[in-house]
Amino acid sequence: MTTHSTLAAGELSPADALKREVARAALAEVVPGEIIGVGTGSTVNFFIEALGEKPGLVSAAVSSSLASTARLQALGIEVLDLNEVVAQGRRLPVYVDGADEINPALQMIKGGGAALTREKIVAAACERFVCIVDQSKVVQVLGRFALPVEVIPMARASIEKRLRGLGGEPRWREAVVTDNGNHILDVSGLHITDAAAMETAINQWPGVVAVGLFALEGADLALVGSSSGVTRLTK
Ligand code: 5RP
Repeated sequence: MTTHSTLAAGELSPADALKREVARAALAEVVPGEIIGVGTGSTVNFFIEALGEKPGLVSAAVSSSLASTARLQALGIEVLDLNEVVAQGRRLPVYVDGADEINPALQMIKGGGAALTREKIVAAACERFVCIVDQSKVVQVLGRFALPVEVIPMARASIEKRLRGLGGEPRWREAVVTDNGNHILDVSGLHITDAAAMETAINQWPGVVAVGLFALEGADLALVGSSSGVTRLTK
């Protein structure tokens, strides 16, 4: 028998409570007074909310999506252009983002929110990647979550064919156009034992903008929320 409990107004579901706890724990990883790199997704939304409660903790943010930018700005946090930050030689000590899956080597599948390309760009520009997840995202082998791949629209069918050649079953996320004007393929059926090799291979196909494997450059620290608290995972 399935039971349904009703949440009181303002009360978080147990899953959201874990996300908020782990997002708040990430505040301790922020370097005060510096620029923060901000990812995308429901867990990151709690991190943005927590940043909003600490005015002045960061000087500004660089954002990985239009959605996160809107949330940051709504809380009065200035969002800077990544090109300007890099060109001015300013520091980006920390990037905080969620993940759809993470393995013990801190390699991840990301892109459930279709922001994988900008996430990869911002993460690569930052010194340290702090991944915030709940326990359900931790896996031994990546691939249970369908792997997102951002593609140039005219290359979609060609990339689908190549992905089938890898043993995956791609599905076009038809309702979604990315912030970059591209399409997303979600690839199920993959058992990713060498994530770095697969990331390298898919990256090279013409028409692929980014693959949602963050293996060549994974996270430096994972904060994992569970009912017994927040655990720190390092490589
Ligand atoms: C967005 C992402 C997200 O980090 C990932 O989908 C996790 O999201 P959530 O925190 O909502 O579970 O990669 O492109």
